[in-house]
Amino acid sequence: MRIQRLQLTNLRSLSSLALDASPEINLVHGANGSGKTSVLEAIHLLSLGRSFRTHQARHVITEGCTEATSFAQLCDEQGASAGNLGVSRSNQGELRARFQGQDIDTAGLAALMPVQVIDSDAFNLLDGSPSIRRQFIDWGGFHHSSRFISTWRGFQRALKQRNSLLKYGRIDRSVLDVWNREFLSYSEELTKLRQAYVEAFIPQFRSILTALVGDSAGGSAGEPVGELDIELRYSRGWDRERSLEELLNEGFERDQRQGFTGYGPQRADLRFRVGGRSAAEHLSRGQKKLTVSALKLAQGQVYSETTGRRCIYLIDDLPAELDARHLGKFCTYLKASGSQCFITCVDPELILELWGVSEQGRLFKLENGKLTASEPFGDSE
Ligand SMILES: Nc1ncnc2c1ncn2[C@@H]1O[C@H](COP(=O)(O)OP(=O)(O)O)[C@@H](O)[C@H]1O
Ligand SMILES: [Mg+2]
Repeated sequence: MRIQRLQLTNLRSLSSLALDASPEINLVHGANGSGKTSVLEAIHLLSLGRSFRTHQARHVITEGCTEATSFAQLCDEQGASAGNLGVSRSNQGELRARFQGQDIDTAGLAALMPVQVIDSDAFNLLDGSPSIRRQFIDWGGFHHSSRFISTWRGFQRALKQRNSLLKYGRIDRSVLDVWNREFLSYSEELTKLRQAYVEAFIPQFRSILTALVGDSAGGSAGEPVGELDIELRYSRGWDRERSLEELLNEGFERDQRQGFTGYGPQRADLRFRVGGRSAAEHLSRGQKKLTVSALKLAQGQVYSETTGRRCIYLIDDLPAELDARHLGKFCTYLKASGSQCFITCVDPELILELWGVSEQGRLFKLENGKLTASEPFGDSE
């Protein structure tokens, strides 16, 4: 799905703004504080019903206003009209989302208009807590298999039940056995779905990382990726040599003391290593940016291969941390992907030059809450 026209009201410093989007690159530039990231937040609101910068709706709503809204005319990959989507958040936290005149829930939104965000928080994929990496895998799993969402929900329910029993103190073993069985069966299913996703994901990640770092050597599974050789491994949340059932039985008393379940898919993680060392400790900022970008782009690529559709890329301050050579590779990759991109930056000159000729690319200047559009990509030779 693509955005043809975007309209937003009362979102941070932007009171009202409309944008006729290109199906290819939409480059939004302006001074610091002009509202560039807010435009990306408006698109994210359409995709997940919330901002990527905050979980609290009131921060996104213009001060003194009661709700922020984002509205889009959507089209399919061929440009045929695909209906109108409107999402609003009130300062009470209420979410209203309508697609083609019907209410739509957040799972519906996520399936309708998937986006991938690359911003300064994306570094958390390497440096942040495992829960961020689990969310990342689960986004992929959700789009990879139609069984994922019900399995994920079933697992969360079983985990919650087991944990509340553990906290309760006097435990009826027969009740615990019922929830253990439920927990084990969902754990097995969820782990299979996540593993299937990660298996599809890793080769894409490696080949995109190769494209971004620009060494033609390597790139296929198991080979070094040019100047950045990152080993990515999925860790399922319990010992590789043991069964989860065994560990649950063995760890029962500890689980009871702690009041939560110590092993299982709730502890799953992705591990990144470079030459045997932790990537988070070893890589430079620029290398981390390339790595997390490759992760996000690979997720978009697997989504495309699974569904035959493309996701939208929201890239905040694309040039940050990148030298001209890597920025050029990044632009080349995005252009070839055929995905709709919304990219922000302070100074657009270098990106315009590196992107090269594009019939449809659009440049937007944001100043004093107003947007001016031009189509400069076609002019460059
Ligand atoms: N809830 C809000 N109401 C009004 N203005 C806000 C709100 N939140 C942030 N702002 C203002 O919006 C601007 C931030 O916009 P942002 O999209 O981050 O700019 P940019 O990405 O161009 O640097 C800042 O000037 C900030 O003061
Ligand atoms: Mg910004």
